[in-house]
Amino acid sequence: MTAHGVPERIGQIRLRKVYDSRGNPTVEATVLSDVDRAAMASCPSGASTGSHEVVSFPDGSVDRGIEFAMTRVVPHLLGRPLGEQKPFDAELKERDGTGNFASLGGNIASALSIAYARASAAAEGRELFDYVARLRGRPPGRFPAIVGNVMNGGVHAVGGPSIQEFIAFVEAPGFRTQVEAAVQVHREVGRRLRERFPSAALGRGDEGGWVAPADDEQALDILAQSCQAVQASGRFPGAAIRPGLDFAASELYRDGRYHYRGRSLTPEEQVAFVQDLVERFDLAYAEDPFDEEGFSEFSALTGRILTGRKVHVVGDDLYTTSPGRVRRGMDGKATNSVLLKVNQVGTLSDTLETVALADQAGWSTITSHRSGETTDTWLSHLSVGFGSAGIKCGVLGGERIAKLNELLRIAGDASS
Ligand code: PGA
Ligand code: ZN
Repeated sequence: MTAHGVPERIGQIRLRKVYDSRGNPTVEATVLSDVDRAAMASCPSGASTGSHEVVSFPDGSVDRGIEFAMTRVVPHLLGRPLGEQKPFDAELKERDGTGNFASLGGNIASALSIAYARASAAAEGRELFDYVARLRGRPPGRFPAIVGNVMNGGVHAVGGPSIQEFIAFVEAPGFRTQVEAAVQVHREVGRRLRERFPSAALGRGDEGGWVAPADDEQALDILAQSCQAVQASGRFPGAAIRPGLDFAASELYRDGRYHYRGRSLTPEEQVAFVQDLVERFDLAYAEDPFDEEGFSEFSALTGRILTGRKVHVVGDDLYTTSPGRVRRGMDGKATNSVLLKVNQVGTLSDTLETVALADQAGWSTITSHRSGETTDTWLSHLSVGFGSAGIKCGVLGGERIAKLNELLRIAGDASS
């Protein structure tokens, strides 16, 4: 509100080409209200993208997207009142006119949608997480678990394992304890990798996890032992630290088989393989264990492993945050969890529609970064506002730890 009780309006919108953690161009949006309050948001981008995601930038060009936005979209946004998220997002879709943001670019739409949310929250004197929680219609939930990537493979780390992400799933009383425990697992994995591969050059992948010449089972073994060691250290009372995986299996699937280093599996064998890993390593988290069209394999796995076991079976490329695909997953009980990436659908409102479906099904959500990130921290606010069971944002690397530090601020955690 302005001093006169009139709603603030959009005075100006700026779009700037900036660069993500891989050095690829992306976009930063600034929404200035008519009382000159500025709100910014930048958009990350993926490498193992699902084929049902909206288009990131028209013909892959940030410049072309910005030009389209400034000439064809922004003039219709100026003067709109703040605090009306749904109509704002609907206008973005209407002006784009393609149904998949092929003209505007889903990354530009996302940056605009979130910058507008930030501007609206600021105009109402609220934090972004609180604004998002109100849009969801529920008070901000408990703090999310850390779904922290500690070893990288697949397309995020050439020379590493075939499975894309080896994850520490960390729950503890207090977010600071979670951060410290996740960092400790990352260190412990590094220590064990140096011991196991003394002559190899260890590196770090796109999401800040270790890269080593390990095969999948070796890597998972080291991850599981590291989680156990940190849990058993007694340094993090009340913490539950368990291993998890993002298979990103669409990247492994060709010609009807799942291809790992040195072997390939039929879809039926893949179901049995994943079930075996979940049970043997007590996984807390299994993301995209099958191809993005493999709804029936997802249903088979979920049906088999959920009895008596607390594990999040998560759809990322499977759903691409799209309400239509999540509905299909609900019909077949394909998973019990949905990954949320705003730029897979292009607006905050569409993401909230997916959150509402997950709420309705009693499924968990996991709010997620992309492999190419910026140092922006809106993700942390969204994870709290969405009431997500987890935030997937990596552990180390400036653009990753920035999200965890923002959650400490949201928690109001002022301890030394
Ligand atoms: P991205 O993948 O490279 O598309 O961001 C991350 C993921 O698969 O979760
Ligand atoms: Zn994924």
